[in-house]
Amino acid sequence: MEIKTIKAAVVGCGAISDIYMQNLTERFQVIKLVACTDLNEERMQQQAKKYHLQAGSWQEILENPEIEMVINLTNPKAHYQITRAALEHKKHVFSEKMIAVSLEEGKELCRLAKENGVRLGVAPDTFLGGSIQTARYIVEKGLIGEVLSAVVSLNRNFDIFGDILPHLHKEGGNLPFDCGCYYMTALASIIGPAKRVCGFARLHQPERINRRVGAPAFGEKVQVEAENIVTAAVEYGNGVLATVHFNSESLLDERPCLELYGTEGILIMGDPNRFESPVSVKKMLGETLHFPFTHGYTQNARGVGAAEMAWAIRQDRPHRAGMEMAFHVFELIHGMLISARTGQFYELESGFEMPEALPAGYLDNGFWGPTEESALALSDGFCLFSS
Ligand SMILES: NC(=O)c1ccc[n+]([C@@H]2O[C@H](COP(=O)([O-])OP(=O)(O)OC[C@H]3O[C@@H](n4cnc5c(N)ncnc54)[C@H](O)[C@@H]3O)[C@@H](O)[C@H]2O)c1
Repeated sequence: MEIKTIKAAVVGCGAISDIYMQNLTERFQVIKLVACTDLNEERMQQQAKKYHLQAGSWQEILENPEIEMVINLTNPKAHYQITRAALEHKKHVFSEKMIAVSLEEGKELCRLAKENGVRLGVAPDTFLGGSIQTARYIVEKGLIGEVLSAVVSLNRNFDIFGDILPHLHKEGGNLPFDCGCYYMTALASIIGPAKRVCGFARLHQPERINRRVGAPAFGEKVQVEAENIVTAAVEYGNGVLATVHFNSESLLDERPCLELYGTEGILIMGDPNRFESPVSVKKMLGETLHFPFTHGYTQNARGVGAAEMAWAIRQDRPHRAGMEMAFHVFELIHGMLISARTGQFYELESGFEMPEALPAGYLDNGFWGPTEESALALSDGFCLFSS
């Protein structure tokens, strides 16, 4: 059967666009990437040439009836305006994280997608990768028993990263949103919606100097506007309790920690920002089982969320990296900061249906093996490993 592809365009030809364009042109058959645009003419022309795309204005993309999907790879501050315009032009959108900057903007985009009968999918899509899908498989097969609690810890050095990427110092770009979203999305996809959260936050050293020789702002004063140390406790709807630690005033030596504590074992997941983080299980007698991946997409597969959404559109079923879960995680992170400011628990208003796990066994084992993309295309959840 011929695949009815979805024609798509990328908006934002910056750092992350390379891996998206590479995967969307070479790896996923369901999407046909045809065009790109950027405010920066040089970047746009460079990426258009490299990936054989049509370079053009944002307005041309919006007015092109053949383009069904927009892939929003702009900076977080621009997410809202780009996604809103595309939804208003009745185009499906897959947006990089997070959905927007403010809660109001996020709510409005979800409403617009519903009103206009189009899909809105939002990164991170790493939860569809081999590492986190394997972790979910372990939990759902009962290998760690009943999950009771979870630990999240993420440290980075935004003093250094922020000299190159100034948006990391601004609202919507600080660590809980920029990178914490990977951890909270991984948990959401395994544990489900959260009920309430309480948080503490501080802004350490709001004024500093850009010290990176060669950066446009080298030597200039930098104002850090958003909280850079945040801790929180989360109560999930199913009773799981999580403790969360985000610190972007730390070392370059990152120590990502994402662990689930169950009645019969501990699941150690590693860095959810990566598709290939090893997954292991610690059992009762202290032995550690290094678990083989049960799912494909164990290399950088950014774009898998957009591809899965394209299959879901063609099959008229819900897509997995959906706006409801993305908005819930967004509200949860906002909730940590709102709680820190008010000194009150923040009760979550939003919820979401758990996205179906991908079927297991589609590992990309060469021509005679099952292909990875088949896992995205199977609407009946058929598992090569099902029990
Ligand atoms: N860089 C990474 O490693 C990484 C990883 C995962 C996700 N992301 C996410 O991807 C998105 C983009 O990040 P990036 O690192 O590629 O940023 P970037 O600054 O390198 O690129 C963003 C591009 O968007 C363009 N842009 C901004 N507003 C625009 C508009 N209104 N119309 C057209 N173009 C516009 C900019 O000119 C720029 O070229 C962000 O949401 C980020 O959180 C980045």
